[in-house]
Order: sequence, then structure tokens, then C-alpha cells
Amino acid sequence: MINIAKPMIGAEEKQAVLEVLDSGILAQGPRTALLEQGFAAMCGAAHGIATSSGTTALHVALLAHGIGTGDEVITSPFTFIASANSVLYTGARPVFVDIDPATFNLDPRRIEAAITPATKAILPVHLFGLMADMPAIMEIARARGLAVIEDACQSHGAAIGDRRAGAFGTGTFSFYPTKNMTTAEGGMITTSDPAVDDACRIIRQHGMRRRYHHDILGFNFRTTDVHAAIGLAQLKKLGEFNAARRANAAHLNANLRGVQVPVVREGYTHVYHQYTVRVPDGRRDALRQHLQEHGIGSEVYYPIPLHQQTVYRRLGYDLSLPEAERAALEVLSLPVHPALTEADLAAVVAAVNGFMAS
Ligand SMILES: Cc1ncc(COP(=O)(O)O)c(C=O)c1O
Repeated sequence: MINIAKPMIGAEEKQAVLEVLDSGILAQGPRTALLEQGFAAMCGAAHGIATSSGTTALHVALLAHGIGTGDEVITSPFTFIASANSVLYTGARPVFVDIDPATFNLDPRRIEAAITPATKAILPVHLFGLMADMPAIMEIARARGLAVIEDACQSHGAAIGDRRAGAFGTGTFSFYPTKNMTTAEGGMITTSDPAVDDACRIIRQHGMRRRYHHDILGFNFRTTDVHAAIGLAQLKKLGEFNAARRANAAHLNANLRGVQVPVVREGYTHVYHQYTVRVPDGRRDALRQHLQEHGIGSEVYYPIPLHQQTVYRRLGYDLSLPEAERAALEVLSLPVHPALTEADLAAVVAAVNGFMAS
């Protein structure tokens, strides 16, 4: 079976975990601080704040920007549900704006029309490893005085020009095992604003700056040094992992027939967290079945746009976002992870092309 994802865990990660277990410092400690510094530097941000997951990174980042009850946050309907749920956790309301069909990312041309007096932030998602149109989004945010929280949970190392994900607004990342780098579970916030950094640190730790003095309502959203040790080993390999993903994607781009391969605009560095094609003529589910029969894993990210999820319908969301809805019917993600061999890639190409030519 050629799996859709494979965590790349080597001897370095195993050794690093054993060293932490022997060190006596298991919870958030010196390795977490090193991961925060190293990851922020990779992004080109001044500060990194490690959290227990990508979801808690989003939640903390929104709170650090003062988002709460009565506020609106503009985001994408075509993403993993955590992007919008994190807004709900704060008491604010996600406002879904349709996507650009070429990139699957929030369409900046549609944002202005969604801004109201209650809008406090824009939360673009860099889906599948490709950044949203950040120059356009930052320009709207600047003109309207809005905060920008980047959901870069799928885009470690992605860039526009020489500026990386997490260096435009406040960045949020996930280190879940399928991501471009992992800590098993974990997350990271990046910022160059010292006030946001400070707010994130105290919200992560029960609103506590001085030991057992609690200034605001916070949470326990810390990570551990066991996880951070894995992350430090993975961070060293991120460039190599992303280069392998990009090479695999280039092979698929050059050889797949009958499907719409990913569109990457000039100046964008796609890091292919997922390699996602559009399958025309309503043949997506049949292609998926065909691949399964040929031992090739694939996945639909995502089959239901967020505004149509039951949890959002129950909250009264009743709107039509045609591009997100069409994408949900057409997309299929194919294996692109760094462990694929040439034979694996050839098998994926043969199976897709064989089916699409039939
Ligand atoms: C786009 C997006 N946002 C948020 C998250 C949440 O991250 P986590 O699963 O680490 O909580 C994920 C990851 O699953 C994601 O893909």
C-alpha cells in the first residue's frame, strides 16, 4: 500500500526523546525554548510560542489579538474545521468568504464586501502548503485596521518571494504527525510583535506571568520537552523534507494526465503538504476507488465546506459559497510525502492516467 502520509521518524528523533526522558525535565523546558527560537528563525519571525496543538495555537493567537464575543473574523470555508472553530472558542463569529478556485485559498477580491463594523481580523489559511495571497490580504488589513492571523498549519517553510508563512501576520502552525514536520502533537505561534508574544505566553499558561499570580483567564496549552525534542530533530530536516515533496510534486505535474494539477503562481513556494488535483466530470470518487484497488491511498480534503457542516448549520449558517462547494466535490489528494520511491510515483501516475484515459 502506498499511503497518503508517512511520518518521517529517524534515529535522531528517538535519541532526542531518550535524552529528554533521562534529563528529568519532561514538561515545557529548555528544549521547548530552543524549538521556539529555531522555528521562529526559520519563518523569519522574532518570536515563537509553542503550544499543545495547531488548534490551541490558533485559539491563543486570536485571544492575544483581543478577539472575543461580538467580533467577526473573516476566514475560508474550505479548510480543516479547527480554522473556524478556534474563532468560535473565543466567542467571536467566523465569517466565511469564498475561495479562489485556482488556489483553493481565501479570495482577497471577496474580502471587502464581507467587512462590517464588527470585523476584527482576517484569518487566511495557507491550504495544502500554498500560501494565500498575503500581499493583497495584508493591504486590506492595513487599510481597515484589522489583525491578520495566518493559519499556516499546513505550510511550514512555504513562501512568497523570500518571505515565509508566519512572517506576514501572526503565524500559527500544527505539528500533527502528517504535517511537513511533526512533534507527534503540538503547535507554534510566530510573531514579531513583542506585545503579541507576551500575551500568547501568558494565555498559554493560565494567565500567569509571575508564579501563581494570575492576571487574566488563561489555559494550559503548553507542549512538553519530549515533543519539542522530536520537533528540534525534525526542524533540521524540514528543508530536505520540503525539497523531496516539491520534487515528487514536480514529477506528478509533469506526468499526470486528465486531472487539473495544482496551480502555483509566480513567486510562490509551494511545500505540498498535500498534492491536490481536481478530477473533472464527476469521476472523483470512482478514481479514488480505482486507486484504492491498486494499493494507492488518496484522500478528500475536504468533502464538506465548513458552512455546510452540521455544527455550523446548527449555529444558523445558511449561505452559498459555490467555489468551496465545487472544490469539495472535485478535489482528491494523492501521495506526495518524502518517503515515496520512484516506483511509488510511477505507480500513482500509471493508476491515475490509466483510469482517466478509460
Ligand atoms: C488548516 C489547519 N488548521 C488547523 C489545524 C489544527 O491543527 P492540530 O490538529 O494540530 O490541532 C490543522 C491540522 O490538522 C489544519 O490542517
